Formats: sequence, structure tokens, C-alpha cells
Amino acid sequence: MASTQIIGTGGYAPEKIITNADLEKIVNTSDAWITERTGIKERRQAAEGELTSDMAVKAAIRALEMAKTRPEEVEMIALGTISPDMPMPSCAAFVQAKLGANNAFAFDLSAACAGSLYAMGIADQYIQTGKIRRALVIGVELLTRIIDWEDRNTLVLFGDAAGAMVLAPTTDKQRGILSTHLHSDGRAAEILWIQGGGSKHPPDEQMLKQKLHKVSMNGREVYKIAVRALYESVVEALEANGITASQVNHVIAHQANLRIIESVMQRLGIPLEKCWLNISKYGNTSSASLPMTLDEANRAGRLKPGDLIVMMAIGAGIAWGSAVVRW
Ligand code: ACO
Repeated sequence: MASTQIIGTGGYAPEKIITNADLEKIVNTSDAWITERTGIKERRQAAEGELTSDMAVKAAIRALEMAKTRPEEVEMIALGTISPDMPMPSCAAFVQAKLGANNAFAFDLSAACAGSLYAMGIADQYIQTGKIRRALVIGVELLTRIIDWEDRNTLVLFGDAAGAMVLAPTTDKQRGILSTHLHSDGRAAEILWIQGGGSKHPPDEQMLKQKLHKVSMNGREVYKIAVRALYESVVEALEANGITASQVNHVIAHQANLRIIESVMQRLGIPLEKCWLNISKYGNTSSASLPMTLDEANRAGRLKPGDLIVMMAIGAGIAWGSAVVRW
């Protein structure tokens, strides 16, 4: 079986910046509270008329350029999102059409902030078995249109962005994606969800009035579960590969909250400097966060061939996981 290598990365964040000071004018919050509890200073907001698929395409084009891959060569588009252009068809279908990736099969995947990690895990299996030779993995979110701008619990956390990776086979067994470990626990679904807009609460006046189409979250519960689950899944990944925490060169983490990352890194015994941080600039961009962070670290020249990278992500579901990559 082949191994899977990440041969291109791309990221995109809209131009418009919303600072904590901007949010102070909208809800009862403060820059000090947001910074201390989350590490977030600002986030991005998509332009009027800009769609989730538009953002995804921008990140994808950058990843494809780096991978020297033409859109027609892409055989799979696996796209993680909870904020697609519309419920049907998939956001991936629009991305496929906009890119002209007409030889791919394209689908969305709903695993919230773990969406791009799940997508990478699935694409990896298709490549390892030789079924496909090029996969485009995308994480993209336009969360500023699905959060409640009157709810300070969630408003301060989220932002809009996209990230992408191009995956391809390699015969070099020492390099590429060494493992992915994916998990979910549906018993905790209600701690972070959007209840309305599906078949349980179809879009009607009542649903809109109750704001069931907006993100609602029990932040404290999410925090507790996130710290434990991320730690356990990284330990699982290290053990599966027979590596120790001290051998890890980089941690690419879903940027949910600086305190969550600090706490997990401390428990793992990995210095925080090994984790590329951008939460202060973008906030929590859910499934976009992991590939966009990988792209930033990659373009900054931080990732050297042979480096060991641990990835970790967690989101609604609860869905979470980890991966180990030899760059
Ligand atoms: N500004 C000011 N005060 C606020 C705000 C705000 N934006 N939001 C909540 N508060 C208040 C609360 O009402 C509460 O006030 P009270 O004591 O009078 O009741 C007080 O601050 C403390 O609230 P807590 O919820 O206990 O604050 P906590 O320290 O837990 O921080 C936070 C909240 C930042 C949401 C934290 O729980 C967290 O980060 N949880 C993880 C959530 C997360 O990352 N979700 C993202 C999606 S899932 C994922 O990506 C993993």
C-alpha cells in the first residue's frame, strides 16, 4: 500500500477584521474578558455576497498551485463544513464546479471543528489503497452568518476562513500521514449544536423566533471534554506510532481556545512553542482552522522534511481526533 503525502496547502481568510473592541459595541463584553478567556483579539468576516464555496475555492487554488496539480487531476473533494452554501446540494459540489475539477467525486462531511481532520482521514484511506491519486481536502466555515450576534457566549469566539490540502501517494514509507485516529460521542451532542433548519425543527416562523437556527453552546462542558479528549487522542496517536512527546517537532491544533491548547500541550509535556498559534487573529474557524494553520506554518518555512507533526481537532458531535504526519 502507498503512503499519503500532503503535497500542497492553502488558506484564505476574508479581509474584513472584527476586533474585540467592535464586539464591545454590540454585546456586553470586553476585550479583556475575551483575551483572557480565549486568546482571541480579532476574527474575520466574509464580505456581503461572499459564499462558503467562494472561500473554499480560494484556499483550494492556493493548495493546488503549491501541489502543481491541475483541477482536472483531482479525484476526490472531501469538504468539512457546518456552514455550507445551502443544505442541498453539497458545498463541495459548488466548489467542484467553480474549480472545474470535473473528474472528482465531491462530498461534504459534517464533523464540525474536526471536519477537515475527518476529511483527511477518509482521503488518506482512498489514497493508501490506490483507489485515487489526488484528493483535495477542504475545511471551510462562514460562521458569522450562523451565529447569534446577540449571544455573547458564542459571538466572541467564531470567525470565517478556509483551508485546503492536496494529498497524493508516495512510495516513501518514512514520510506522509503515519496515522489518523478519529472518534465521536453522540451522547454529548447537545452541548454544541444548531437545532433548527433540519427535519426536527424545519425552517418556520416559530423556529426562527426561538433562534434555533443559530449556534448554541455550553462552553464549560465543551472546554472540559475538549481538554481530556484531545490529550487522550494525541497519546493514542503517539503510542500507535511508537514515538514520544519529545520527538514531536510541531503540533498543528484546531484553534478553539488558547487555554484549551495550553492545557493539552502542558499535559502532553510538549512546549507551547511547538504549536503554531493564530487564534488571536482569526478566532475559532471550526473546520477551516486545522488546514489553514498547517498552511501558515508551511508557508512560513517552519516545516522541514522529516519533521514529525501531530495534528489534533475537536468539535460538535462531539467529534475529535488526531493524526501524525512525517513532513
Ligand atoms: N463577555 C463577558 N462575559 C461573558 C462572555 C463574554 N463574551 N461570555 C460569557 N460571559 C460570562 C458568563 O455569563 C459568566 O457570567 P456569570 O458568572 O455572571 O454567570 C462568566 O462570564 C463566566 O462564564 P463561563 O462560561 O464560566 O466562562 P468560562 O471561563 O468557561 O469561559 C468560554 C467561557 C470561553 C466559552 C470557555 O468555556 C470555552 O472556551 N469553552 C470552550 C468553547 C469552545 O471552544 N467552543 C468552540 C466550539 S467547539 C470547539 O471548537 C472545541
